[in-house]
Amino acid sequence: MESNCVQFLGNKTILITGAPGFLAKVLVEKILRLQPNVKKIYLLLRAPDEKSAMQRLRSEVMEIDLFKVLRNNLGEDNLNALMREKIVPVPGDISIDNLGLKDTDLIQRMWSEIDIIINIAATTNFDERYDIGLGINTFGALNVLNFAKKCVKGQLLLHVSTAYISGEQPGLLLEKPFKMGETLSGDRELDINIEHDLMKQKLKELQDCSDEEISQTMKDFGMARAKLHGWPNTYVFTKAMGEMLMGKYRENLPLVIIRPTMITSTIAEPFPGWIEGLKTLDSVIVAYGKGRLKCFLADSNSVFDLIPADMVVNAMVAAATAHSGDTGIQAIYHVGSSCKNPVTFGQLHDFTARYFAKRPLIGRNGSPIIVVKGTILSTMAQFSLYMTLRYKLPLQVP
Ligand SMILES: NC(=O)c1ccc[n+]([C@@H]2O[C@H](COP(=O)([O-])OP(=O)(O)OC[C@H]3O[C@@H](n4cnc5c(N)ncnc54)[C@H](OP(=O)(O)O)[C@@H]3O)[C@@H](O)[C@H]2O)c1
Repeated sequence: MESNCVQFLGNKTILITGAPGFLAKVLVEKILRLQPNVKKIYLLLRAPDEKSAMQRLRSEVMEIDLFKVLRNNLGEDNLNALMREKIVPVPGDISIDNLGLKDTDLIQRMWSEIDIIINIAATTNFDERYDIGLGINTFGALNVLNFAKKCVKGQLLLHVSTAYISGEQPGLLLEKPFKMGETLSGDRELDINIEHDLMKQKLKELQDCSDEEISQTMKDFGMARAKLHGWPNTYVFTKAMGEMLMGKYRENLPLVIIRPTMITSTIAEPFPGWIEGLKTLDSVIVAYGKGRLKCFLADSNSVFDLIPADMVVNAMVAAATAHSGDTGIQAIYHVGSSCKNPVTFGQLHDFTARYFAKRPLIGRNGSPIIVVKGTILSTMAQFSLYMTLRYKLPLQVP
C-alpha cells in the first residue's frame, strides 16, 4: 500500500486546511517525508495577510520538533529549500465564502492547479459558541466543498470529522453517512437553515449585552440545541451538520470522511510520542502527574478509544489513494482502536501510575511530584461515600 501512496502523491497539488493545527502538521510532515516529489501543498492558515501566514508557517510548522527526522535526513538547508519550493501558505478562513481568500489571481490559480482538498480545520471546543461552531464546523465545511467543486482537476475532497458525531450509542457503530435532517434523538426533524436562523435571532436578542454575556449565552444555546437533537455537545453537533451538508451538496465530487476517535501522540512516525497541546485525555493525564487528581469516577473495564495521530494520518493518505477519482463516491472510515486493540480505563490508570512513578513531573519548587496511585470509583454511590469521608460532605444517596 505504501508504494501506491508514494506513487499517488507524486506530482500532486494538495490544499490542506487546519494548518497549523495538531493533526494537519503530522500530515504535512508525512507527505514531505513519504513523497518529496509532491508538486505543491497549499496550506490555508488563519492570518491577516501573506506575511503573517508565512510567519505562522515558519514558527508553528517548519521549525518545530516534529520535523527533526526530516531535518536530520535532508539537512537543515535542504529541508528549508524543500519547504520553500513545495509549501505555499495562504491566509484564509473556511467560515467565509471562497475560504476568505482575497487575491483573485491566487484563487484562479488554486482552482486550476489543485488535485486533492483535505479539510482538517475545525473548532474543537466541546462547548463552543453556537455561532462560531456553525460558522466553522457546519457552514465552513460547506464552503470547503464549494471551493473544491470549483477545482477543475479536483479528484477528491477528504474531510476530517469525528467518531463522536455518533453520540453516546452503545455497540458497533456503522460507517454510514447521515441523512440530511437526521437526529440522534430520532423524535424530531433537524433543519440546518432553521438552526442558522435561530442562531442569528439569538445574536440579535443579545445585541445590547456585554461580550461576556453574549459569549456565555451563545455557548449555552449551542449546548441546548445539541442536546435537543440528541448530541452531547455543540462540537459534535456542528460537525455532524457539516457532514450532512457535504453529503447533500457534493454532486459528483468524490468525498471521503474520516472519523477518528480520540487522537493521541504519535506511536511511530516520525518518532514516537510527539504531541502538541493538551487535547482530550492528555489534560487528565497531566492533572494526574501534577498530583491534582486523587480519584476518578469511571468503570475500570470501560474501553477508551484512543488513536495515535500518525495512524490517523496513514488512514487519510491510504483513503485518499484508494478513492481519488472515484466519481460520485462517498466513503466513510472510522479510525479508532476499540475493536482491534482496546485499552480500558483500568489499564490506562495503571500505565499512567507506572509512568509517573518512573518519571515524575518536577514541581515549582524543583522537587519531583510524587503521585499516589489514586482511586477509581466505579459507581456514584462509591463517589458520594468517598467525598463524604474525604471532604466531610453530606452523604448523597443516588
Ligand atoms: N484531536 C482529537 O482528538 C480529534 C479527534 C477526532 C477528530 N478530530 C478532528 O481532527 C481535526 C483536527 O483536530 P486537531 O486536534 O488537529 O485540532 P486543532 O489542533 O485545534 O487544529 C484545528 C486547526 O483548525 C484551524 N481553524 C479553526 N477555524 C478555522 C477557520 N475558520 N479557518 C481556517 N482554519 C481554522 C485552527 O486554526 P488556528 O491555529 O488559527 O486556531 C487550527 O489550526 C478536526 O477536524 C477535529 O474535528 C480531532
